Amino acid sequence: VAHESILEGLLDASIVVVEVDLARDALGALTPEETAGMSRAHPDRLLEYRAGRHCARVALARLGLAGASIPRNEDRSPIWPAGFVGSITHTRKRQEGWCAAAVARSADFPGVGIDGELDEPLEVKLWSRVLLPAEQAWIEARPDGEQGFWGKLFFSAKEATYKCQYPLTSTFLEFADVEITVEPVAATFDAVLRREAGALRAGHAFHGRYARREGIIATAVAVR
Ligand SMILES: CC(C)(COP(=O)(O)OP(=O)(O)OC[C@H]1O[C@@H](n2cnc3c(N)ncnc32)[C@H](O)[C@@H]1OP(=O)(O)O)[C@@H](O)C(=O)NCCC(=O)NCCS
Repeated sequence: VAHESILEGLLDASIVVVEVDLARDALGALTPEETAGMSRAHPDRLLEYRAGRHCARVALARLGLAGASIPRNEDRSPIWPAGFVGSITHTRKRQEGWCAAAVARSADFPGVGIDGELDEPLEVKLWSRVLLPAEQAWIEARPDGEQGFWGKLFFSAKEATYKCQYPLTSTFLEFADVEITVEPVAATFDAVLRREAGALRAGHAFHGRYARREGIIATAVAVR
């Protein structure tokens, strides 16, 4: 790819990451299974959905599975081919769009979660819904001009953690169920479950990395 990767370096090298810039990159077609249930989707939604499937298919091919189809469960989570697991994210990037998939062999990484958000401050009205008191206190100790960024980063870290744990636990989580702590120098974070989820106990810690590039805040979490 000629343009900058947003997710580069955030995940182990055995996890294949494919990104597309919708303004520049050509997309492959959806498979019939993937198209099922999407006939009434808005064209913008269909485009981001197709971009996600394109990235996922290219990533699976790099892992040795050519021509895969990635349909959806009723709950809208992707159905990965047996032996693989992954995660998809998309954002509007200025006027264009950006989309990525990260895919691993589930024998190496049974859980992978990625999330990209526009690098714009988390809206103040969302703070109390998204952030725990301890998270909010940590952010409020940062310089004023950075606080909106940190709010959005915590939001993204929770979404990436949610996507990572879901195929493992089939559990819906609230924002208050995951507590984020950030290590700004290393650009890493921990995400600790505050409740039991499937086979994962309360206190289980996920580890992630983040980056702020090209107008996007990106987070990534993987479970070994
Ligand atoms: C699913 C969800 C995580 C998507 O996040 P988002 O930032 O709105 O959107 P993104 O573009 O980053 O991700 C969308 C993709 O997530 C994937 N996804 C959807 N549901 C998922 C699930 N249950 N598990 C894993 N991945 C899921 C899909 O691939 C989807 O893209 P697609 O429909 O084109 O295939 C979010 O909408 C959601 O439902 N969250 C659950 C509730 C929550 O936020 N809890 C607090 C976090 S702890």
